[in-house]
Amino acid sequence: MNLTLSNPTAPVPDVADDGVWLACIECGWTGPPFDQIRYRCPDCDGLLEVRYDDHPTFDDFGERGPKRGVWRYADALPVDSGVSIEEGDTPLYEVPTIEDEVGVSALRVKHEGMNPTGSFKDRGMTLGVRVAQKLGVSRLACASTGNTSAALACYGARAGSEVLVLLPAGKVAAGKVAQASLHGARILEVDGNFDDCLDVVSDLADRGEAYLLNSLNPFRLEGQKTIGLEILEGFRDQTGELPDRIVLPVGNAGNTSALFKAFRELVAAGELAPEEVPTLTGVQAEGAAPMVEAIEEGADEVRRWDEVETVATAIRIGYPVNAPKALPAIRETGGTAVAVSDGEITDAQRALARDGVGVEPASAASVAGLRTLRESGEISADERVVCLTTGHLLKDPDAAAAAGVEPEPVPADTDDVLSLLSR
Ligand code: F0G
Repeated sequence: MNLTLSNPTAPVPDVADDGVWLACIECGWTGPPFDQIRYRCPDCDGLLEVRYDDHPTFDDFGERGPKRGVWRYADALPVDSGVSIEEGDTPLYEVPTIEDEVGVSALRVKHEGMNPTGSFKDRGMTLGVRVAQKLGVSRLACASTGNTSAALACYGARAGSEVLVLLPAGKVAAGKVAQASLHGARILEVDGNFDDCLDVVSDLADRGEAYLLNSLNPFRLEGQKTIGLEILEGFRDQTGELPDRIVLPVGNAGNTSALFKAFRELVAAGELAPEEVPTLTGVQAEGAAPMVEAIEEGADEVRRWDEVETVATAIRIGYPVNAPKALPAIRETGGTAVAVSDGEITDAQRALARDGVGVEPASAASVAGLRTLRESGEISADERVVCLTTGHLLKDPDAAAAAGVEPEPVPADTDDVLSLLSR
């Protein structure tokens, strides 16, 4: 494995606040974390990353604060506590049928659909909304394919903040709109796709009209790092070993970036050897696969896809904003990226459901990708693998119903029921 580990242990700059600062991943600019709102580097417009003067070890986790959930990892985060509704601590499921069928040495599913609002976004929001309070902003906003809006609406409500969400009209699953709606967000349905929504909301944020809580916001990704920490701890508890590979769906590539950062920081803490860092493997839908294209072509940048379509509406994204962080994450861990068809996604969603794990289509992309890469031989039979499932089945009831069995109408009569059953 060629792990050069983009350096998380640079000298502590004067701008650090309690050992925490922001750094540009492109030009090395550094700045204080909480003095003003920043989403990108003021010098070169590069992506920002949160940096720390030191990194906790596994033994530190859960020592000072909560024993479970995102805030178990407070020592690895830029603030001590969040606007919390007990996010994180999601199950790491065995999936015996799929494990058997694909043929790997061990397979687990980290089901992020079991978070409070039904997706991993809660891990970023508990932190991001807390930082928003620290910065003293009033209106929180995001563009979303649905889950980010549901989480922001919920955590914003909890914090007593105004929430504005921009959604691509007609392309957001019903459960997600319902959540944003009931938690009281102002919902704008935009005539355009997710990337258009993000352009507009970024513009609003640059004009000071709202605080942006998309994954461009470096604080959100800090919360999402805890997925990686939980996977390592959980997998080791269950099997005595660490996973070789993590397969995950990719939209804006925030999780890919966040998991890599979690592992780099464990390496910096001396807790992981570089060769123990799991291989990060991204999966996109064929109809929205700019990251796969960039990995296959060995490109340094992703090309923006203007036309995107997939049953996995959560990852119906043509221009992953975190690509500059995620391309090194995949390459430096020896990973890859693969595209899967909508049919393969739906098949994987059914397979997960048969093992008792109910997920939305985007989540099933991870298992579909695992199947494809096992068939091609890219993933070998002796590997220990974790698939990340990012959202709950009920997020997209229409997709679930379309993939599942048809209800059969019957009169309210036992004989009619029995005759139907005997047919
Ligand atoms: N899976 C689900 C269920 C998602 O909702 C998303 C992103 C992803 C995967 C992709 O994660 O961006 O870290 O690569 N959803 C965003 C949203 C875009 O608006 O809810 P990523």
